[in-house]
Amino acid sequence: MDKFGLPARYQGQQESVWEEYIQLAADYDPLDLGQGFPDFSPPEYIISALDQVIKDKDILLHQYTRGCGHPRLISILSKLYSHLIGRSIDPEKEILVSTGAYGALYSTMMGHIDQGDEVIIIEPFFDCYEPMVLTAGGIPRFVPLRYNNNNSSILKSSDWTLDPEELEKAFNSKTKAIIINTPNNPLGKVFTENELQMIANLCKKWNVICISDEVYEWLVYEPQKHIRIASLPGMWERTITVGSAGKTFSITGWKIGWAYGPANLIHNLHIVHQNSIYTCSTPLQEAIAIGFEKEFSCLGQDNCYFTSLPRQLEQKKNYMADFLTKMGMKPIIPDGGYFMIADWSSLESEIDLSAENDKYKDYCFTKWLTKNVGIQGIPPSAFYSESHKPLGEKLVRFCFIKEDEKLKKAAEILENWKQRNN
Ligand SMILES: Cc1ncc(COP(=O)(O)O)c(C=O)c1O
Repeated sequence: MDKFGLPARYQGQQESVWEEYIQLAADYDPLDLGQGFPDFSPPEYIISALDQVIKDKDILLHQYTRGCGHPRLISILSKLYSHLIGRSIDPEKEILVSTGAYGALYSTMMGHIDQGDEVIIIEPFFDCYEPMVLTAGGIPRFVPLRYNNNNSSILKSSDWTLDPEELEKAFNSKTKAIIINTPNNPLGKVFTENELQMIANLCKKWNVICISDEVYEWLVYEPQKHIRIASLPGMWERTITVGSAGKTFSITGWKIGWAYGPANLIHNLHIVHQNSIYTCSTPLQEAIAIGFEKEFSCLGQDNCYFTSLPRQLEQKKNYMADFLTKMGMKPIIPDGGYFMIADWSSLESEIDLSAENDKYKDYCFTKWLTKNVGIQGIPPSAFYSESHKPLGEKLVRFCFIKEDEKLKKAAEILENWKQRNN
């Protein structure tokens, strides 16, 4: 018996792509378009809110707060989502605040998935879903979004859709939950009302919980609209929706996220949270509450950060699509989020990947790109289950929530490489 080994429930789980690629960036110092965070300042008011909180005379703001969510934060989250979902959300019983969306997802999985439960995961998926389901004892069932050729030279994230028959076949009496992510990381797909309705119908038919990761809920490009599956008829009672202050206010390092849903489902998350995290940072939650109070007062207006940030990103998205195309890749234009997937396969004949010996070609390509061109992207096969990884091999993921200067530099580096190789 190996007393010092990894417990059985974690065995077989690999080092995540983030660990490997953060190390790669440290070793080669490329221009980093890999990791998903902004390299520019968050809105001024959220920084001054934190500053104000830290200096506040109320010294209790430095102490533990209510375990499942700081009162001021759950109060404004309940106002905001009651308005968006169209029903009254109880701040104490129907919300959990945790350490980022990761924490909320963890409490969701541990609080609902039991040994042998089947959980449907739509691919490509944010990579932590699979290990979390496995750790909870669940059995993941993967259903990939399938590419439908739109006969246009421009590829779009909406060209990837669910095959209704394939999805339906994945449901059975053992299905406990389905995990969806809209807007999707890495694809940038924003699920349409029809698609969500199809998922909702199956959830109702098979009495399944819907875990909806909506961390990019405010990053949607016109004319697309973000639809919350919890707001569809009959779905509130079976949906847990996950959000992130990191993505909402461009403060990924603050690591505050939440889940909301009906009291009976959120109760189970509260139990897990109380016995693992217990409570999150008080000053950060207070400052985020101030940020939300400000945004709630101007929701939908031009001066609302939730309106202005996607407008600012739209230009960066177009700029990136342009320089990737010039380099010879085929970008897939996202409808949401801040990542762009591109098909790099037409470059394959021009480059020598023989020095890289990873199992999947997108790993070889991204490593080659970091070492030889000086740009870092992420291999999308990391967002697929083992048997579907080939679906990601022709692709690379780049992040465009970066300063214009940085994107310009990336364009120059790629252009210079292209010229040297022509
Ligand atoms: C789809 C998705 N879900 C969850 C998370 C985790 O968010 P947080 O940083 O709030 O834990 C991320 C972060 O990149 C993400 O892309």
